[in-house]
Amino acid sequence: MIDQLNEDYARLLEALNEANSSAELDAWYKEALGRKGHITLMTRQVGQLSPEERPAFGRRVNEVKKELEHAYRAQSARVQSAELLATISRDSLDVTLPGRRQWRGRLHPATLTLREIYRIWGDMGFQIYRSRDVETDEYNFELLNIPEDHPARDMWDTFHTTTPGVILRTHTSPGQIHAMREYCPEPIRVILPGMCFRYEQITARSEIQFNQVEGLAVGHSITMADLKGTLVDFAKRMFGEHRKTRFRANYFPFTEPSAEMDVECLLCGGDGCQVCKYTGWLEILGCGMVHPTVLRNGGYDPTVFSGFAFGMGPERIAMLKFGIEDIRNFWANDLRFLKQF
Ligand code: PHE
Repeated sequence: MIDQLNEDYARLLEALNEANSSAELDAWYKEALGRKGHITLMTRQVGQLSPEERPAFGRRVNEVKKELEHAYRAQSARVQSAELLATISRDSLDVTLPGRRQWRGRLHPATLTLREIYRIWGDMGFQIYRSRDVETDEYNFELLNIPEDHPARDMWDTFHTTTPGVILRTHTSPGQIHAMREYCPEPIRVILPGMCFRYEQITARSEIQFNQVEGLAVGHSITMADLKGTLVDFAKRMFGEHRKTRFRANYFPFTEPSAEMDVECLLCGGDGCQVCKYTGWLEILGCGMVHPTVLRNGGYDPTVFSGFAFGMGPERIAMLKFGIEDIRNFWANDLRFLKQF
């Protein structure tokens, strides 16, 4: 039996060395090591041997199996690389095929809009002033003339932290106080961009997290005419020279008088459509003359200084500019949406 095995081994090894294609190799494997292959069948015969013959034969058949497997792997590698070389030299390289498209990163639509807003206010002499996202109740409300229990607090549903009095800012207006306390008694012209947070139901028009860009101008004899002129100029630069604007009276505790500014609907040009709810107008910001109490809280004497402030939502503006119908797209991280900008 062992002699027969050794003979088979020598024969199979020789046949393996002569197998020079994948097809030949497959056939060889089937014959030698496959389920019904020669060596496999031999292994199964161990049981029929006498107890004395069994150990030596068993050992040898395993050795042969291992060596043949090893030799098969080496031969496969040789055949494969030879076949690859042959294909490469046979088929010429087609240089007319287009290359693989590179994936390019791009800016988020909120970032694009923010940068456009920064550029416009920068051209008008406003500097960027950054303040914190986590605020105190004092800065977010009290110093802005919104005492505890004042019904106006209902305008800003708030995320509280476990530390009493520490909250996530509901608007960028607390930055007004920080800026005033830093620059007082100098005149101020700043914009205050950043994330705001409101504990609100998420819908197509409102998110719990969104950007705002606040603006603040403080100085001598600043009037409502300055506020209107500056904001109308901003709207023209942002939305186009011939875009109509209008102001509507409103209420904010930290400005007096207060207003909201609308621009003519960008999508229907004022004719009325779903986006402007058939009014022809779109609201883009809240604004007003800084309340004397707020000026005083910032360190300025309201009999000497005056100022105006405004707050706009860049995502809302981006929605109007790009015709985005659902604010939830901004933070959903869906590439199909983000790739369009
Ligand atoms: N802070 C106001 C809001 O979030 C917007 C605003 C800012 C209004 C400054 C007037 C002046 O609704």
